[in-house]
Amino acid sequence: MIKLKLNGKDHEFDAPGEMPLLWALRDVALLTGTKYGCGMALCGACTVHVDGQPTRSCVTPLAAVAGKQVTTIEAVAGQPAGKAVQEAWRKLDVVQCGYCQSGQIMSATALLAGNRSPSDADIDAAMGGNICRCATYVRIRAAIHEAAQNLA
Ligand code: FES
Ligand code: FES
Repeated sequence: MIKLKLNGKDHEFDAPGEMPLLWALRDVALLTGTKYGCGMALCGACTVHVDGQPTRSCVTPLAAVAGKQVTTIEAVAGQPAGKAVQEAWRKLDVVQCGYCQSGQIMSATALLAGNRSPSDADIDAAMGGNICRCATYVRIRAAIHEAAQNLA
């Protein structure tokens, strides 16, 4: 049994420690907002927060998050930065197909939680590992600036 805080609540996973966190979230906890893209830490679709840090859940074993706080897209609106990011995403109509977007939002939220006034370079550095096949990058950057203004 692996115990952790999942989206603010105590949670126990009855699953092998070597199971990727992404599998545990989607198939065991039935939180399907976090997406599978590459399975090799290359695309960012599976990004969640582990103790506030953006983390690729496809390559993170469940055992590695025992005792930690894991936040997924389903609960990110509970954080001020997450709420601001989601509002900006809606206002600027960022999403195209949507597949990459939960990962994008998790990375953007982690950025703004630590830096309320990111430069374009800060955004590029923080978001560089999140791939969007629909090329929504220009709107993502604009939405992060919009969210930052609303948090100020
Ligand atoms: S699915 Fe994890 S980085 Fe692509
Ligand atoms: S919105 Fe389609 S992959 Fe990003």
